[in-house]
Amino acid sequence: MEFSKIGGDLTISKLVTGMWQLSGAHGYVPSTSSVLAAMKGYTDSGVTTFDLADHYGDAEIYVGEFRKLVGKGFSDKHFQFLTKWVPRPGPMSRRVVEDAVDRSLKRMQCDRLDLLQFHWWDYSDKRYLDALGHLQELVEQGKIRCLGLTNFDTEHLRFIIDQGIKICSNQVQFSVLDQRPLVEMVDYCHRRGIGILAYGTLCGGFLSEKYVGLPEPSRRALDTASLSKYYQMIRVWGGWGLFQELLFVLKEIGEKHGVNLSQVALRFVLEQRAVVGILVGARLGLSDHLSDNLKVFQFELDEEDYQKIRSVTSKSNDLYRIIGDCGDEYRG
Ligand SMILES: NC(=O)c1ccc[n+]([C@@H]2O[C@H](COP(=O)([O-])OP(=O)(O)OC[C@H]3O[C@@H](n4cnc5c(N)ncnc54)[C@H](OP(=O)(O)O)[C@@H]3O)[C@@H](O)[C@H]2O)c1
Repeated sequence: MEFSKIGGDLTISKLVTGMWQLSGAHGYVPSTSSVLAAMKGYTDSGVTTFDLADHYGDAEIYVGEFRKLVGKGFSDKHFQFLTKWVPRPGPMSRRVVEDAVDRSLKRMQCDRLDLLQFHWWDYSDKRYLDALGHLQELVEQGKIRCLGLTNFDTEHLRFIIDQGIKICSNQVQFSVLDQRPLVEMVDYCHRRGIGILAYGTLCGGFLSEKYVGLPEPSRRALDTASLSKYYQMIRVWGGWGLFQELLFVLKEIGEKHGVNLSQVALRFVLEQRAVVGILVGARLGLSDHLSDNLKVFQFELDEEDYQKIRSVTSKSNDLYRIIGDCGDEYRG
């Protein structure tokens, strides 16, 4: 396992386990004991960091249960739980903000959040600055260790930083298919020491051997929230035919390095500047790709690999022009 730092002193594993897959929007969620046993398997393998949110079903509660299971003799040196706050638009008083943080602390059974990632739906509603101001105070008071954002574009990230708010990370969609962060975000974050946490790295599982040579999936086959989200992205990007070309090229590169195409897709994101963590969603207790995905640390892509990837991606539509910068897919 390789590790990186967020905000100077929070160490995370570069491979981060995403817990959206436990929200109920990805089908059956197994028993708590199966989820906890799977979490333990991940941490025993060195994947010590989990990404979750206030609205990912019981994810925060699983974290609390996990803490109880492993006992009190550990700290954020051993495990890191990166949660999010995705508030409904409304007044952002100190009370509202602190209540939300206290709720996560209670559910996760801890005194301090390792990283709180803040999402906001509407930039024209400037109350996000009120919320961030209060969150910054809670960092100073020790309830939050690091303050991050999710799905903010470069313009608003820069604006927030210019207001004097210390932002440690921004979690955005970033994959070999969706390379919008390379247009502006990566450079800005790199210069300002802000870590990028990348999600959608496997397009919900589409970037895997399972889909090589398969016909376009029917609506019925898009049976998780993740698959339907990224299927739309594939369509906007260039469609199923071009996506198959991408899969074939990634597979060929994988064969050269002795890994499968998912690891090539993960490696592509991992090698980009400012990226501190690559998220891979896991249906904990149901399906497991951990031993395969750990191979992402065992090889490097070379110039020939990048050229092959470009030979396909250069034929795609320009997602930055069509959708906009990071996070704009959530803002219409
Ligand atoms: N900030 C945000 O707005 C936001 C949005 C979306 C997601 N996220 C975060 O990102 C995490 C990742 O979620 P995602 O939806 O983007 O999914 P993803 O990580 O792109 O894909 C996850 C799926 O890929 C499949 N997979 C993983 N490794 C594989 C391998 N080696 N071979 C074949 N298949 C493999 C698994 O499918 P099976 O389970 O079918 O095996 C898994 O469920 C979430 O859990 C969440 O923490 C954040």
